[in-house]
Amino acid sequence: MRGRILVVDDDRLTRVALAHQLVLEGHEVRDVGNPVPALELLAEEPWDVVVTDLRMPTMDGLAFLHRIRETRLDTAVIVVTGHATVQSAVEAMKRGAEDYLIKPIDFDELSVRVDKIMARRTLERELRLLRRCPDRYHALVGRSPAMRHVFERIEVLADHGSTLLIRGETGTGKDLVARTLHHVGGRSGGPFVKISCAVLSREVLESELFGHEAGAFTGALRQRRGRFELAHRGTLFLDEVDDIPPDLQVKLLQVLEERRFERVGGERTIEVDVRFICATKRDLAALVKEGRFREDLYYRINVVALALPPLRERREDILLLADCFLAARADALGRAHPELSPEACRVLLDYAWPGNVRELENAMERALALSSAPVITADDLPPTVTGGESKNGCEACLATRDSLELKAFLAGAEREAIGWALKRTGGSQSKAAQLLGIPRTTLRDRLAALFGEEPATTP
Ligand SMILES: Nc1ncnc2c1ncn2[C@@H]1O[C@H](COP(=O)(O)OP(=O)(O)O)[C@@H](O)[C@H]1O
Ligand SMILES: [Mg+2]
Repeated sequence: MRGRILVVDDDRLTRVALAHQLVLEGHEVRDVGNPVPALELLAEEPWDVVVTDLRMPTMDGLAFLHRIRETRLDTAVIVVTGHATVQSAVEAMKRGAEDYLIKPIDFDELSVRVDKIMARRTLERELRLLRRCPDRYHALVGRSPAMRHVFERIEVLADHGSTLLIRGETGTGKDLVARTLHHVGGRSGGPFVKISCAVLSREVLESELFGHEAGAFTGALRQRRGRFELAHRGTLFLDEVDDIPPDLQVKLLQVLEERRFERVGGERTIEVDVRFICATKRDLAALVKEGRFREDLYYRINVVALALPPLRERREDILLLADCFLAARADALGRAHPELSPEACRVLLDYAWPGNVRELENAMERALALSSAPVITADDLPPTVTGGESKNGCEACLATRDSLELKAFLAGAEREAIGWALKRTGGSQSKAAQLLGIPRTTLRDRLAALFGEEPATTP
């Protein structure tokens, strides 16, 4: 793991050689010739490791060590010393230095010691996060009864071989739950393969799923294995399963029933051992009624269903998640964890979160990017979330553009209108649709379009 390392030595050659070596190992390094500027740097920014000479003219090494401990208790110190003064290195260890090296420095030895420290720090960081977020199940965070129930269901369902359908609005964690199911279950040694059925054309989706033989169609230059094969002995996650075109629905049904298929343009039957997890943000039963989704496939997929509640129906999780996202992000940036001001908490709790956990995660990331203060205030939250200042969104959108992109402008306004309506109706989609004067199905489609996932990359 890459660390931030400060090298302190009055001997320029040693210092530069040390720094150079550590840079080669991929670390971010600063080097200074005496302890006074070093202490200033330590006060300003977090450092993982200080490598310091013990004998320097301006300040005694042990006194320096003492000052480092005062400024940054969590920074590890490696002292460097000559043969003649090993005794002082031992003394330094007693006073909290992590390790020592004897001159002339063996660079391999140096990297081993630094790696060891970095590995331990990574572990400690994870533990700190865990302690900060005790309400979790693997990567999933939540303390609401609804999420606790989801955790219990995952525990039970992970080892089931049966096909499973995860339902939930966009951003409720369908992806993360699918991955957790895989990792907790007996297939964790095998691959986890994901494909989103929404972004691909019918032809591409078919060959992505089934694979193809060379020459099966124009452009199929060589044979290619599909996702069914790639997921052998593992889990295949079919995201946005409602978007599969009708004729592929038939083919998928066959695979689900027989665990056998042929590649596009191929004759050989291939057998696979795959667990299928499907996900949808739509109401599949309604799609079946409308004739847009095959009933037989629906029953095959919906053997076991897991519903993820929208964030507005589990308000106990909002601040917990917000805090975890802040902590994780701040940690990644090497910054101290900021707190949320009481006003910011109130705003977060009041908002309807149509984009669910993903929207909350983005809001926290944005707040950290905007503010380096130890407290995140309501002003650091997106205007969509704080409400009221609906002009701001438009103004910001206009200010950053040389030409007026009507589409982006309108999307911003639409997002705010929908957010407002959902807030007014306590999150009821049908009432919000009434307020906005649009059919409920339109609202659901607009929600998906405006708050949905970033366009998935074509695999
Ligand atoms: N319960 C949760 N705990 C922690 N992070 C979560 C949770 N639910 C969702 N997330 C995070 O929110 C984002 C959106 O989740 P995702 O699984 O992609 O949602 P979906 O697939 O339902 O649109 C991801 O970054 C995910 O890691
Ligand atoms: Mg998803």
